[in-house]
Amino acid sequence: MTTPAATADLSALPTLSTELSDLNEGQLTDLAHAAEIMIAQAHDVSALQNLRVQLTGKKSLLTGWSKQLGKLSNDDKKTYGGWLHQVRSRINEALTEQQEQLEIAALNAKLEAERIDITLPARGGQKGHLHPVTMITQRMQQFFVQAGFNVATGPEVESDYYNFEALNIPSHHPARAMHDTFYFDAHYLLRTHTSPVQIRTMEKSAPPIRIICPGRVYRNDSDQTHSPMFHQLEGLMVTESSTFAELKGLISEFLQAFFGKELTVRFRPSFFPFTEPSAEVDILADNGKWLEVMGCGMVHPQVLTNCGIDAEKYTGFAFGMGIERFAMLYYGIDDLRLFFQNDVRFLKQFG
Ligand code: PHE
Repeated sequence: MTTPAATADLSALPTLSTELSDLNEGQLTDLAHAAEIMIAQAHDVSALQNLRVQLTGKKSLLTGWSKQLGKLSNDDKKTYGGWLHQVRSRINEALTEQQEQLEIAALNAKLEAERIDITLPARGGQKGHLHPVTMITQRMQQFFVQAGFNVATGPEVESDYYNFEALNIPSHHPARAMHDTFYFDAHYLLRTHTSPVQIRTMEKSAPPIRIICPGRVYRNDSDQTHSPMFHQLEGLMVTESSTFAELKGLISEFLQAFFGKELTVRFRPSFFPFTEPSAEVDILADNGKWLEVMGCGMVHPQVLTNCGIDAEKYTGFAFGMGIERFAMLYYGIDDLRLFFQNDVRFLKQFG
């Protein structure tokens, strides 16, 4: 059911006889004028529609008068007909014009209400980004991949053989004590370094070998600079002519490329069961102190032999570094645990 349209108040119009013959031209002109004023005051489309019906519809005075034209003499028909036509045209014109005005006003109101300020800065979504440790890993990889190294990976649950034995660390060896290993049982453990990937690669492929092995490693250790899970990036190169000089050159180049500046690099004699000779690499910090950044050395001939590589024919070098340590130095962070607490306030500073 539709609500019946409210009847327009026509009291402002002159009161006129329903009899056409009672009217004169002046009255009809007044009527047209008064109707024009009413129409111009209609404030919405339905009010205007009411006026249209009452002023010109079937039951309107105007239509009533028009019906009486037929009864008039030819002369009167012409005279009255002309007047009525005048009135009807003026009213119709006023209705059309007001209709247009209302439509324009409605459109303007809608535009104003839906106005979009295109100069406002966009609200934007929260944009994520890679974890700082991932970004540092990628920065490291970028250098070595450009230098011709392939990326290799291996399991995080390792056997005692790959994590220790094949790397020349027999069960009685004191170096095992340094690794704070998480054991599952007598044979399986969480790898304590990425070096088992060297072994797996050398077992499978013949030299020349150039790989880097980034990945998670685990040690039972936790403080400001140690986390039970952390990341290392290992490198291995085995050819007929790999030398310690080449290792030194590669590592120096890497460190300067990574930190993006000239660095004083020192190779300090050290010991790893799987490399001989072995060295720790230090860089000279701005405060004049030496910072240890990685271990390296020439692959021990026994390790090559364990993997079925002829140690008389081939030589190799290897290096291994902690990725978080590089991330801490690169970003100037003094607590490694921050990387793994997943506090967005910390992480979003690296976007
Ligand atoms: N695997 C050694 C560690 O975790 C690092 C290393 C790798 C040293 C390769 C020499 C050569 O401590």
